[in-house]
Amino acid sequence: MELAEAVRSVIRDRKTEKVIAEPLNPVKYTAEQVNSGDQIVKQAIADSGWAPFHYDRRQDGLAEPWRAWWLNQANCQSLAAILPQLIPDLKPGNKMPGLLSGCGSLTLFTWLPQPNEAGVESSKRERIDREHLAATAAAVQNFLLLLTAEGISNYWASGSLIQNHLFGTLKIPQEQILAAAIFAHYPHPLSPVEVIAGKHRKRRSPNTAWLQDVSIDV
Ligand SMILES: Cc1cc2nc3c(=O)[nH]c(=O)nc-3n(C[C@H](O)[C@H](O)[C@H](O)COP(=O)(O)O)c2cc1C
Repeated sequence: MELAEAVRSVIRDRKTEKVIAEPLNPVKYTAEQVNSGDQIVKQAIADSGWAPFHYDRRQDGLAEPWRAWWLNQANCQSLAAILPQLIPDLKPGNKMPGLLSGCGSLTLFTWLPQPNEAGVESSKRERIDREHLAATAAAVQNFLLLLTAEGISNYWASGSLIQNHLFGTLKIPQEQILAAAIFAHYPHPLSPVEVIAGKHRKRRSPNTAWLQDVSIDV
């Protein structure tokens, strides 16, 4: 397949798949399936870092504005098990325990806001922050496309519950802001799971509805 056609087809094939399993009966794979899925995901995280970024964030000797935090399946399932203790008022219908029990691994992409610096106007800082977030979203989309190309279905969740309640347990610095919690689902699970599509998947408009040619009158 021609390169552009291959890229186009991965972009169109990417779709949200929320995979849910019962916390008391978490998804099962062979050790081989887990190892192979983990390797693919780790490589995809590494490659996602080829995203563009505008500003050198200059923290910890790193220019990139994003960070990635990875939990393997065992850690996801441990987290699901202790969730009721960590969040006693978790609503009964909340999907987080089911998602943690159904995934092959979870990758959290965070970004680092600009520090308050003397002499830097807040409007400039906000603009730079928007670009840090945009760059991080580009890395996240790279990751989703690579997972899709590798046959690993995925789900981008905002993860506000993770940001608000679990950063301490996960040892993620509170200054970082969660951009994406990406649940990755390894192929051919050995136990039953529920699969839910993204709620807006079928609401896409034709591009003519949001694309306009611009012409300049001279
Ligand atoms: C920044 C971002 C945050 C998202 N957060 C959530 C979320 O918290 N819960 C959810 O159900 N879907 C979330 N989604 C996924 C969207 O629901 C999904 O992309 C949309 O329904 C379109 O479906 P598709 O991804 O299959 O095209 C998020 C997507 C993005 C880009």
